[in-house]
Amino acid sequence: MLLIDGKQTAATIKAEIKKEVEDIVARGGKRPHLAAILVGHDGGSETYVRNKVLACEACGFQNTLLRFEDDITEEVLLECVARLNSDDDVDGFIVQLPLPKHISEQKVIEAIDYRKDVDGFHPINVGRMSIGLPCYISATPKGILELLRRYEIPTSGKKCVILGRSNIVGKPMAQLMMQKQYGDATVTVCHSRSATLKEECLRADIIIAAIGQPAFLKADMVKEGAVVIDVGTTRVPDATKKSGFRLQGDVDFEHVAPRCSYITPVPGGVGPMTICMLMLNTLAAGKQLYYKR
Ligand code: GUN
Repeated sequence: MLLIDGKQTAATIKAEIKKEVEDIVARGGKRPHLAAILVGHDGGSETYVRNKVLACEACGFQNTLLRFEDDITEEVLLECVARLNSDDDVDGFIVQLPLPKHISEQKVIEAIDYRKDVDGFHPINVGRMSIGLPCYISATPKGILELLRRYEIPTSGKKCVILGRSNIVGKPMAQLMMQKQYGDATVTVCHSRSATLKEECLRADIIIAAIGQPAFLKADMVKEGAVVIDVGTTRVPDATKKSGFRLQGDVDFEHVAPRCSYITPVPGGVGPMTICMLMLNTLAAGKQLYYKR
């Protein structure tokens, strides 16, 4: 069994990005600039955004954080999005989710210029991704593809089961794993209502678990030699931790790992790759790789 080290891979990619940025700047080019909008004081969002700012610094990106209280109106937030859309210095930006309930997340996402939508959440990017056109691919599925690629794990022609059908992981992951230019695999999507979930998993060469249920995937659901990618990050109470909790993946790691050829741990697997993929998308935005502005 080999552990897929997302933390190390993410560090390697950030170093590669930093090197490319310094080369661009040395040739007289522009340093990529990522802006982030953070509304309110949600603990998780604060941490994510802090880590995004730190990752920008590690990559040599210019970065701007725009903060608003959670009583901001939708109208004012949309004005801020419009300003960033027309600010030529900003290559890409994100609006950290979730937003307060009185604001329509979908409306805000659709207000972002898709050419600056480095989260890959705009329907134009989602649609282009699903038909294999150049676009920003959202961070979690992109990070999983990158781990499979860097560990040289064969996917072409393999049977891949995806657990979960969310818009941010399950659906895009299925689209990408089936496409010739990415996974080129035979893909089955299972979810909470799937009657044959266990049988499907037992036939799978690759299982991507993104169902949001701690330790859902058990050893008796996994074929010997399978590759298991764990996207789950549920906080479960743990009195032995200073914080009082630990992160639990969707995989019963202790019992599943011995059966696997490769497996991602939680934490330290898919998680560290996601912010790193936002950085790769920002670099692409700076280079106008997918869209000219
Ligand atoms: N909230 C949790 N994950 C994400 C993400 O990838 N992007 C944004 N904008 N908000 C998030």
